[in-house]
Amino acid sequence: MEETPILANEHDYILETSGMTKEFRGFVAVNEVSLKVRRGHIHALIGPNGAGKTTCFNLLTKFLEPTRGEIRFNGSDITREAPERIARRGVVRSFQISAVFPNLSVLENVRIALQRKLGTSFHFWKAGRSLDRLNERAMELLAAVGLESYATMRTGDLPYGRKRALEIATTLALDPELLLLDEPTQGMGHEDVDRVMQLIKQVSANRTILMVEHNMKVVSGISDRITVLARGSILAEGAYAEVSANPSVIEAYMGSEAAALASPAGHEETPPAPASFAAPRGGQPALGAPQGGFLRGAALQEA
Ligand SMILES: Nc1ncnc2c1ncn2[C@@H]1O[C@H](COP(=O)(O)OP(=O)(O)OP(=O)(O)O)[C@@H](O)[C@H]1O
Ligand SMILES: [Mg+2]
Repeated sequence: MEETPILANEHDYILETSGMTKEFRGFVAVNEVSLKVRRGHIHALIGPNGAGKTTCFNLLTKFLEPTRGEIRFNGSDITREAPERIARRGVVRSFQISAVFPNLSVLENVRIALQRKLGTSFHFWKAGRSLDRLNERAMELLAAVGLESYATMRTGDLPYGRKRALEIATTLALDPELLLLDEPTQGMGHEDVDRVMQLIKQVSANRTILMVEHNMKVVSGISDRITVLARGSILAEGAYAEVSANPSVIEAYMGSEAAALASPAGHEETPPAPASFAAPRGGQPALGAPQGGFLRGAALQEA
């Protein structure tokens, strides 16, 4: 089945957390999360706004220190390691908000990412053809995400969906073994969503992907396994069919959102969410959705 460097059996987890917890001044944002990600899987982490998904990513990449608990990558305890060390191990994330240099060309953005990766390799810089190689590799990566013809364009002028594709190219430049994607299709229209979904599927060959995603079409379309987070804790885990039929998951989503969960590509009864539909934390429940905006991505796409 999967092609893996180490033995591939059902217990071959690339990432395992146990009791991972993050408190912010007594507020428990991530609560005793024990997550297992199988090597080679596309694993989706879903849950309402404020569930703790991004905080989990921050803990896994050590942007934040866990209050307690353990994180293991490829069998090694990385709980106390520095972020650079973890990146060097091959754990790389993209950000929820696009993070590319707008005034540089598309190609230059990928080159910078490649230089970051190669920066520590003296042998690379010694070789005479290094810069040619860098350009070649950058073009390969652009081709991989369908951006070849945009290479010389100023990045700020790229259409939104293409910008996210570029962001994926810059993370791929670091050749991650475990790629963390935080809402890769956020704010995209239909076509871009489909393209990025295919792209994720494509780049998942030979690597593992853990993604936070609100768009249920994407989640159901490409995830091998899904973990549902709610109020910091794991609520359910399994394949899409299993998780979407779970009563406690349905209860957490409620009303129209549960309906959307049951039929990800189906018709939305609710009007399209306004672009500014940010998580109304603690605000008035909207449309029977007390958690607010869980499927805001899906609602935007499918309305
Ligand atoms: N640095 C921080 N200090 C205090 N509270 C925080 C901090 N970071 C996150 N939180 C809180 O922790 C909870 C989880 O936030 P997080 O951003 O992880 O949610 P999320 O699942 O990614 O939500 P979304 O779907 O909106 O991106 C929220 O209640 C948030 O306000
Ligand atoms: Mg988030």
